[in-house]
Amino acid sequence: MAIPGSELRARRLSVGISQYRFARLAGVSSALLSSWELERSAPRAASARKVLTALAELETTYVPVTKRPSGYAGRRRRMPARPIVTVRSVDDPPVGAPGVLTAFSGCGGMAEGFRMAGCAIEGYLEVVPAARATFGRNFPQARCVGSDIRELDEDRVSSLLDGVQIDILAGGPPCQGFSLAGKRDPNDPRNQLFTGLLRLADLVRPSFVVMENVRLLLSMKDPGGGLVIDRIVGEMSQHGYDATVNVVNAQDYGVPQFRERVFIVATDARLGIAPVRFPAPTHGTATRRTFRDATADLAPLESGQASDGDPLHWAVEHPEHVLRWLRDVPEGMSAHDNDDPALRPPSGYNTTYKRLRWDEPASTIGTTFGMISASRNVHPTHTRSLTVREAVRIQTFPDDYVFDGKWGAIRTMIGNAVPPALAQVLAGHLVEILRSSTDRE
Ligand SMILES: C[S@@+](CC[C@H](N)C(=O)[O-])C[C@H]1O[C@@H](n2cnc3c(N)ncnc32)[C@H](O)[C@@H]1O
Repeated sequence: MAIPGSELRARRLSVGISQYRFARLAGVSSALLSSWELERSAPRAASARKVLTALAELETTYVPVTKRPSGYAGRRRRMPARPIVTVRSVDDPPVGAPGVLTAFSGCGGMAEGFRMAGCAIEGYLEVVPAARATFGRNFPQARCVGSDIRELDEDRVSSLLDGVQIDILAGGPPCQGFSLAGKRDPNDPRNQLFTGLLRLADLVRPSFVVMENVRLLLSMKDPGGGLVIDRIVGEMSQHGYDATVNVVNAQDYGVPQFRERVFIVATDARLGIAPVRFPAPTHGTATRRTFRDATADLAPLESGQASDGDPLHWAVEHPEHVLRWLRDVPEGMSAHDNDDPALRPPSGYNTTYKRLRWDEPASTIGTTFGMISASRNVHPTHTRSLTVREAVRIQTFPDDYVFDGKWGAIRTMIGNAVPPALAQVLAGHLVEILRSSTDRE
């Protein structure tokens, strides 16, 4: 296996998932997974690929609950104090702007894309306090309609949104919520994240429901053996929405990042229009935005250095032996590729300790972009992991976007976010459809 059993176990534990659940998610047996982790046997290439794909996707979407993941970048001595936060000043939405309610809002990546497309962000719901606080600072006009969707207070939502038109409900429930989902029982407690979204849809009856998730969702099965995605589309249909399933890569829409995601776009059947799909790509191989486009103007920093003026642009200080492994590694290559075995990490998959390339889109920004040992997180030239500012740029948040919380929480919300520029493409399309249907009336 390209990943040693001990590392597989450590990475699985760092995303807080049990052996049993991880095996189900990756589509392998728990007995085999246990034997690989204990290094009693090694998986065949196809199984190894499944395990690594599942790990990478979990690392992108993981929301820590109480413990910091091991290797948490913020333990290093040079970590500056958390950023000073203010309230972002944004223009009022245009008169008659479509109203958006966002559930599982995170820090607001998806919402920011809808705002940029001319929508009014009317409400949000999010369980993690730092993400909720960040959202509130960037969308001060929006009403917080709740925190944990499993404890949704429908009367409160209705009274907070009384008289407010919601045209679009957008949300990305964490994929772990589906992997254990019960067959058809809406009361199954493990199944309440997605059904919470449907309850909100019933309550505010938007024209569109947009749901974003990791690509892994497409192969997830429920305990009955059916595909979770079929169940989602089926349940949306029962609630009166015609859903399309769209696989997109953010790099094809002007985001300087390879980021594959699934968007389920559900159209209220009563609108009497064809189910809406995610628009066609706007960028091709020749026009893709690159790491250079996103970050070249930022102060050049080495390990442990901080920029003078930008509190989000500071570099984690890495141990000297790691710097030695990486110093002479060219862009696009990993310390595992070093000819000298003494300069190779003792174990690990060869996407770790790997430099990005200046003139390509960056790799997927996950929640671990501050960890030099995680996948493809090393700057093309400087010998360090990515700064928060670089991740913010690669995720296409505007520079004045405000982040609240400890550094670990901030990295998590940035890694979990939908890139605003990607959401904006879909949002612009939905705004146009809403506008033309209003014009027809
Ligand atoms: C993938 S992130 C969404 C990111 C967001 N769409 C954005 O663009 O920034 C999923 C979010 O769901 C939140 N979440 C998880 N469980 C929840 C629950 N029970 N109720 C409400 N929010 C929850 C997580 O804290 C996380 O911020």
